[in-house]
Amino acid sequence: MDYDVLILGAGAAGLYCAFSAGQRGLRVLVLESANKPGKKILMSGGGRCNFTNLEVGPANYLSANPHFCKSALARYRPEHFIALVDKHGIAYHEKELGQLFCDDSSKQILQMLLDECAAAGVRLLTSAAAESVDAIDGGYRVQTAQGRYTASKLVVASGGLSIPTLGGSDFGYRLARQLGHSVLATRAGLVPLTLSGKPLEQWNDLSGLALPVEASAGRMSFRNQLLITHRGLSGPAILQISNYWQPGEPLRIDLFPQGEAESWLAEQQQARPASELRTVLGDLFPKRFAQRFAELHTPANKLMRQLIPAERKAIAAALHAWPISPNGTEGYRTAEVTLGGVDTRELSSTSFESKRAPGLHFIGEVVDVTGWLGGYNFHWAWASASACATAL
Ligand code: FDA
Repeated sequence: MDYDVLILGAGAAGLYCAFSAGQRGLRVLVLESANKPGKKILMSGGGRCNFTNLEVGPANYLSANPHFCKSALARYRPEHFIALVDKHGIAYHEKELGQLFCDDSSKQILQMLLDECAAAGVRLLTSAAAESVDAIDGGYRVQTAQGRYTASKLVVASGGLSIPTLGGSDFGYRLARQLGHSVLATRAGLVPLTLSGKPLEQWNDLSGLALPVEASAGRMSFRNQLLITHRGLSGPAILQISNYWQPGEPLRIDLFPQGEAESWLAEQQQARPASELRTVLGDLFPKRFAQRFAELHTPANKLMRQLIPAERKAIAAALHAWPISPNGTEGYRTAEVTLGGVDTRELSSTSFESKRAPGLHFIGEVVDVTGWLGGYNFHWAWASASACATAL
């Protein structure tokens, strides 16, 4: 065999697995289809890479098999990645909710991974898309435009479908099926939602405005900022809930999650009887949003004291359940992650090795484990890669 390990994909999971295996003395070759490694790392976290979260646990992940992620997450904690970041002298800060970002640039995280790979003797080939894979006696053979390579172990770290221009591809899913694995239905995750028709016309000129909300679907709720866009809704609250919502299902957006809107409105009637609703709502929301909401939900220019209880009740109801129904998502073009993927029931949760094909491993986003927004997806890449590398 040419190598001990071939790794398909030089993204977060592939690079982490490569240097960890290299440190164990294994001969490792990473094959990357793009002309550069780690494109998603560079684009991540608005250019500052939200590389992990101080509070990581299985509850932060979605999977058809929710127990699968437990072992890897228990063994690889945020402190492990933070120690690596510290070793490389990369300055970072907590933004909010335990989310750790580089002070300077996500380039530092990529450089750190590449430096670790170089130190561990890993060979990395770019512009070397894996075109076909064959199981051979005692290992695997991978065909690329740059040549054919063999190894006793094959690690698939080729990611999901999100953002094709950053390397999103279905290669890992096709390969999984070819080698006897089930692949669960995929869909775009951490993705903006789209509006159409009247709701779009009513709100899209307010694009760029952000407001605090609680977005809920099923039993999940996220309280954070919502951002109005030209096409619909985005911002952290919407991206988070997009993992749990599907078109056609109810989505609730509470514009007054901090309390009971009807009694708050009654208090405002007492305190500011001569004010208009838009002025009162201006304390909660950006002025243009408050004005539009008031236009749509109050009988023309009534003052607070003129609102009858039924009107107050209707306004409160609209605040707690903003009547706006997205018709879909922006899809893989802008999604941060892909939900679904290689069925974890056919993988070992400790080594990420296939139960179907010995020596074959799947790690990172290609696997049916998807994290919340907030550093959880990179943490999954590191944790799954670390567990896999230990077992190679
Ligand atoms: P990843 O997609 O990183 O790498 C897969 C690699 O395989 C790619 O380089 C691809 O080119 C290559 N490949 C595909 N097919 C191949 C083939 N046939 N042969 C060879 N190579 C092939 N998460 C987070 O925790 N914090 C954050 O701040 C962000 N921010 C963020 C921003 C944006 C814009 C996006 C799109 C995503 C994020 N994410 C994130 C999510 C995070 O980027 C994602 O979960 C990880 O990159 C997944 O790591 P993987 O290594 O599994 O796949």
